[in-house]
Amino acid sequence: MSKMKSQKLFIKTLGCQMNDTDSVHIAEELKKHKNYNVTTSIEEADLIIINTCSVRDKPVQKLFSELGQFRSKKKKGAKIGVCGCTASHLGKDIIKRAPYIDFVLGARNISKIKDVIDVKGAVEISIDNDESTYDFASSHTSRFKTNINISIGCDKECAYCIVPATRGKEISIPPEMIIEQIKKDVQSGVVEVMLLGQNVNSYGRRFSDKRQKTSFTKLLQEISLIEGLERIRFTSPHPLHMDDEFIEEFSTNPKIAKCIHIPLQSGSSKILKVMKRGYSKEWFLNRVEKIKNKVPNVRITTDIIVGFPSESHEDFLDTIDVMKKVKFDQIYNFKYSPRPNTSALKLEDKAIDDKTSSNRLTQVIELHKTHQVELMHSNIDKIVDVLFENLKANGEVSGFTDNLCQVFVKGSDELLGKIVKVKIISASRTSLKAEVLKL
Ligand code: 5AD
Ligand code: SF4
Repeated sequence: MSKMKSQKLFIKTLGCQMNDTDSVHIAEELKKHKNYNVTTSIEEADLIIINTCSVRDKPVQKLFSELGQFRSKKKKGAKIGVCGCTASHLGKDIIKRAPYIDFVLGARNISKIKDVIDVKGAVEISIDNDESTYDFASSHTSRFKTNINISIGCDKECAYCIVPATRGKEISIPPEMIIEQIKKDVQSGVVEVMLLGQNVNSYGRRFSDKRQKTSFTKLLQEISLIEGLERIRFTSPHPLHMDDEFIEEFSTNPKIAKCIHIPLQSGSSKILKVMKRGYSKEWFLNRVEKIKNKVPNVRITTDIIVGFPSESHEDFLDTIDVMKKVKFDQIYNFKYSPRPNTSALKLEDKAIDDKTSSNRLTQVIELHKTHQVELMHSNIDKIVDVLFENLKANGEVSGFTDNLCQVFVKGSDELLGKIVKVKIISASRTSLKAEVLKL
């Protein structure tokens, strides 16, 4: 590398785990090609980037007030760029509304970051851009864990979702690139990998070159052969693609962590149809039952949207019914938010009033809390394996079980990076306390 002056990058990330990974890629690209180092101080940054999310409308409104704050805090001559999904969907309108913005870079254009930072007014947002074989740097989330994208984009057409419009068509990353990256990460101390995709389990249907189709299950099998890799996680899978073969692999492969996100969205088959989710209430319950039967200690998380256009009281009761039957360990719950470029916009005449939506959201939250307390308390006296990651100032060490419960024990840094047997002694709604049995 030429002797480029070292500069400082401040990057703020909103949205999903894929956005977190994109931010790491942005930072690493700028380090490698432009000698930028990350800073946590806006005031000392030479370049300020906000990596945005547009999945619900609040973040978009927040974006412009945030940009105004960056502008008032930044040092003279520092640049500001907007990246990610809101960049994809608002494009040059961002610069029209906030002319002091230096560049706009879409969620599917991350590899162009090194080019756009030097072009005042650059807007790179093509959703046809194919970065599936771009050699991005590794994206460690801690010394022991890494995130890796296995596909980009999404081919689904869920009626409420803006993502296909911001991240484009689905393309899988070649398996050999994924395996090679994970092997490198394992050599540098990683024991746990999180595989990421907007629709992670439809992996293998389309690649950027001509090659045979493959499946997510086959990819899981190949990854689990990597020596030294202990745990494999993935998100977000689609309930529709959870075929029996996948459930069998999930249940029997000891390296696959036993926590699974199964986004319900609605418990009503009628609403699921309007949402174009491709499955019914019965299919969802059948998949959950099958998984629970095969993996008794499984933890199941989900996403629920309330107040989708035309959702009746009976439809909402179906969602409550599924909640009672499944008892989700974690629910990410949302009030429906109309988004541009989505087919649900046509259903405006069937919109649910905000008071009803808020009321339904509260009911979901309250019921979920009772389930969480019950489920977390059922862990007391169990003996489980924890991968320890963090030493806190108060002498506690924290980590996660295979099924993604956070656990705290008294201990020292000799626990870090190890998978250790512990006995659970108490539970709160969101975490567990335990004692180490043996190192
Ligand atoms: N309104 C509310 N929630 C939404 N989600 C996606 N689009 C919308 C929308 N328009 C939720 C879904 C998805 C999660 C990432 O965000 O539940 O699974
Ligand atoms: Fe937000 Fe969806 Fe984009 Fe992730 S993919 S940043 S959740 S809009």
